[in-house]
Amino acid sequence: MAIIISPSILSADFGHLADDIDILNRSEADWIHCDIMDGVFVPNISFGFPILKHVARLSQKPLDVHLMIVQPEKFIAEVKALGAEIMNVHYEVCPHLNRVVQQIKEAGMLPAVTINPATPVSVLRDIVNDVHMILVMGVNPGFGGQSFIPRTVEKVRELRDLLDEMGSNALIEVDGGVNLTTGSRLVEAGADALVAGNAVFSAADPESMIHQLKDLG
Ligand code: DX5
Ligand code: ZN
Repeated sequence: MAIIISPSILSADFGHLADDIDILNRSEADWIHCDIMDGVFVPNISFGFPILKHVARLSQKPLDVHLMIVQPEKFIAEVKALGAEIMNVHYEVCPHLNRVVQQIKEAGMLPAVTINPATPVSVLRDIVNDVHMILVMGVNPGFGGQSFIPRTVEKVRELRDLLDEMGSNALIEVDGGVNLTTGSRLVEAGADALVAGNAVFSAADPESMIHQLKDLG
């Protein structure tokens, strides 16, 4: 299967967001990754639903929504109203993760569970058969443009083994610090999808960078 590329609009030019979404529409990007932050779970605030409504209107690609917020279950209806395809919630903020995953499915979206760099893959054992995707963070969430944490590659291998062992078809996505170098190591380790913010939007030609990332798989 070809590698899925999900550019993150966190690194887009918010003054000209429509132009940047146009670039993604024209490109080989598979999804558009939307990072929602609350200043509580992560030490930063990004954008909320009033902005995302316009992203959803302009985007011709499915939205891969990543909630870096406490109590993400409060916003399932809002995320669904955007027409989002995938809703990512963090393992670290969901004591009733199974319930949240079921609620996302009942709302008609594909559930994904995200783990922080210090959260081990082993905690996912009892959820991997209920989700569409696991998102492994390659940086501590909160900011774009951070350096990749090398241990993430090994975690992707561990997760691939766990999915095989459990007979799970869940996809493995990696988010944070992805560029052509780290991306190629992640694909080799078993990643199915790559999020890239800084690598895409700081490139002289974002469309060509997306093409090169796509070529990794
Ligand atoms: C980090 C966000 C990422 C971020 C990735 O908190 O979840 O999606 O935009 O950015 P880069 O690719 O710049 O590391
Ligand atoms: Zn993200």
